[in-house]
Amino acid sequence: MSTIRIVGGNKLSGEVSISTAKNSVLPIIAATILSGNKCIISNAPMLEDVFVLCNILKSINVDTQIDEENNNVIIDSSAIRNADPENELVKKMRASFYIMGPMLSRFGHFKISLPGGCNIGTRPIDLHLKGFSALGADIIIGHGFVEASAKKLKGNKIYLDFPSVGATENILMAAVLAEGETVIENAAKEPEIEDLAKIINSMGGRVVGAGTETIHVIGVKDLKGTTHKPIYDRIEAGTFMIAAAMTKSNIQINGVNEEHLKPVIAKLREMGVIIEVNDCILKVNGDVELKPVDIKTMPYPGFPTDMQAQIAGLLSTVKGTSVISETIFENRFMYVQELKRMGANIKIDGRSAVIEGVEKLTGSEVTATDLRAGATLILCGLAAEGETIISDIFHIDRGYYNIEKKLRNLGAYIERI
Ligand code: UD1
Repeated sequence: MSTIRIVGGNKLSGEVSISTAKNSVLPIIAATILSGNKCIISNAPMLEDVFVLCNILKSINVDTQIDEENNNVIIDSSAIRNADPENELVKKMRASFYIMGPMLSRFGHFKISLPGGCNIGTRPIDLHLKGFSALGADIIIGHGFVEASAKKLKGNKIYLDFPSVGATENILMAAVLAEGETVIENAAKEPEIEDLAKIINSMGGRVVGAGTETIHVIGVKDLKGTTHKPIYDRIEAGTFMIAAAMTKSNIQINGVNEEHLKPVIAKLREMGVIIEVNDCILKVNGDVELKPVDIKTMPYPGFPTDMQAQIAGLLSTVKGTSVISETIFENRFMYVQELKRMGANIKIDGRSAVIEGVEKLTGSEVTATDLRAGATLILCGLAAEGETIISDIFHIDRGYYNIEKKLRNLGAYIERI
């Protein structure tokens, strides 16, 4: 089992380029099976989750090729089978649920093992299934599987009780080849949903309003192939912004969309971090005195839950009291135990974390409990005194492409051992 070893204390400098977004590319890969033709996803991030999802598609006879040299994923679903995807792979990753919507849309049927994934809460899929039912599918759950069948999917009005990202995406995909118009109300507004609509429309689909709370999907009979480059990863960019703030460094981050990062930029500026944005380049100066802040995670355009752990790491080193309220996932403070090993002073009170900034963090042996928790341990390791060893780094590989290399290029002492 590999670990990551960091010797903290180095300042960072120079430039880093952000990869395209994991949370965009996963639903996009699933959506390609709607087309029944060849699709190319260019500039794709070469992440473990991408490989697993591609293997899931292979298990239903989708021709999937990963061109690592050019960062392309080439998917031809012309010979796709209406079969059950491989169980062991589906259980590995929560995002495997993304194939439900496209399979239902194409075949009026799917049966998959209930998905696994990041350890950050119960993460049910009831909203996805309610949406499929509204489109006319019969759903059966039992023996660890979920199965949906529909003679004919028909467009309908669907109101989501909560703007779930995955449910919005799955219902949107299910509606693409359905008969008539589907309206998704109280839809999630995350930029990744707009990106998904963009590739579907470039295949000949008719999706209007993605990125707003009401999405219209007008069913079409068939689709064609396409080439698409996903949006940049706003969470990776945010993670590097915090790396600069935690190490009191000046860095340049290339490949950002300011609009997508607004809540993170606003919070870091409130803390005192100096941030300049010029087109898709962001300059971060963290070599300043920082102030504590209060943060509440919210659906987009609120502060992202996927940045909660990283900013908690930063606030652990900022003098004064900060309070973070987590409103999206009920179990997203598991990393706190690990940060405490590094000297952080954090108390959990229900869905809030009360953070008293400490003078310094100290290097320790810690374990990544999930993807963003793992990234946070890296950030803390960069700022801490001495050596940090992080285990269970497979979580980090699910969502950060070449993170050690990118940090090493900025001057960090970080290696995989
Ligand atoms: C996506 C992101 C994840 C991010 C999250 C919230 C991907 C691959 N993952 O996850 O990184 O942290 O959005 O921004 O894009 N819920 C239900 N029933 C459902 C579905 C969700 O109750 O059927 C609840 C969840 O338990 C959670 C909340 O809704 O409390 C938000 O989940 P959701 O937006 O669905 O997150 P994901 O799509 O799983």
